[in-house]
Amino acid sequence: MGRTGLFPPMLSDAFGRTVTDLRVSVTKRCNFSCVYCHDEGLGPVDRPRSAHGEEMTPAEIERVVGVAREFGVRSVKFTGGEPLVRTDLEEIVARTVRQVPDVSLTTNGSMLAARAERLRDAGLKRINVSIDSIDPAEFRAIRHGALAPVLEGVREAIRVGLVPVKLNMVVFRPTVDRIPEMVEYVGRGEGLKLQLIQFMPELVGHQDWRVDMGEVTRWLEAHASRVIVREMHHRKVYVVGGAEVEVVDPVGNADFCANCHRVRVTHKGELKGCLNRDDDLIATRGLDDAALREAFQRVVRWRVPYYGVYIPMASVTATNGPSAPAPTRGATG
Ligand code: 5AD
Ligand code: SF4
Repeated sequence: MGRTGLFPPMLSDAFGRTVTDLRVSVTKRCNFSCVYCHDEGLGPVDRPRSAHGEEMTPAEIERVVGVAREFGVRSVKFTGGEPLVRTDLEEIVARTVRQVPDVSLTTNGSMLAARAERLRDAGLKRINVSIDSIDPAEFRAIRHGALAPVLEGVREAIRVGLVPVKLNMVVFRPTVDRIPEMVEYVGRGEGLKLQLIQFMPELVGHQDWRVDMGEVTRWLEAHASRVIVREMHHRKVYVVGGAEVEVVDPVGNADFCANCHRVRVTHKGELKGCLNRDDDLIATRGLDDAALREAFQRVVRWRVPYYGVYIPMASVTATNGPSAPAPTRGATG
């Protein structure tokens, strides 16, 4: 869909970062309890059957996405908690693609096999499945759930054409030695890609789980036949054997934040300008369209590159991990 003069200009913050991508949490509930979970900065997750009256309805989600589209947002990613605990996720996807066609999903995969086809029929384009290890015992130790249904979900997603399926592997002490094995696994399968996600201790503690991502990238460089740099977050993609391996290393990475084009929406419908902050939430429930547009403009005005400006590099290296100081909102609040 092209942009016309009817639409307002794209959202852009004081650092020249436009907003092209919306990440929408549809629930805080999850049937897993991963040891590293930051739950989009709002953790810990709730159990699947806990009360969830505050979650956005499909109509509320469609309205927020519709306004984001007016501002030129090009892609929407659903996340949680675990999005598939919602029985109406297919309806959410169907309504969202009416506004923005490029819709993807991050899931733990445990409930995916039975629903992949219906999600595709609803218009879902791509999927990320979290798999930190292909060893069942190790998988269970990290995620408190079973690996087999997740692998079945991945197979079904590929079968119905939700390709490529991106496997998310959190890189931390317990998984770092498993990277070669995972790269080999992804290279063997058709329709898979691997994302190596740096463990983020900011929201969960456990500084001792951190690993040197430099070591990981040096290993990839040594084994890659090609390296590509993606526009979003300046992420590097390494082609190793038959596998495409993307590295997501935000911690202390000013370049990552300088290239962040994402705004988040919490399960309650609050706008959130940065994963690592919760002092910038703006509730949208009950706002009319004009006020919702203004809320988008405000949250984007508050956006700062978390690493580099909000957390200067000196404090990251000094403390081996940031502790957030008070925000500087200036007169914009
Ligand atoms: N550090 C890095 N990645 C995390 N995820 C959840 N918590 C963390 C963390 N502390 C990832 C999961 C999932 C995605 C939604 O976020 O692996 O793929
Ligand atoms: Fe958190 Fe996702 Fe793990 Fe659930 S599956 S506990 S939301 S990281």
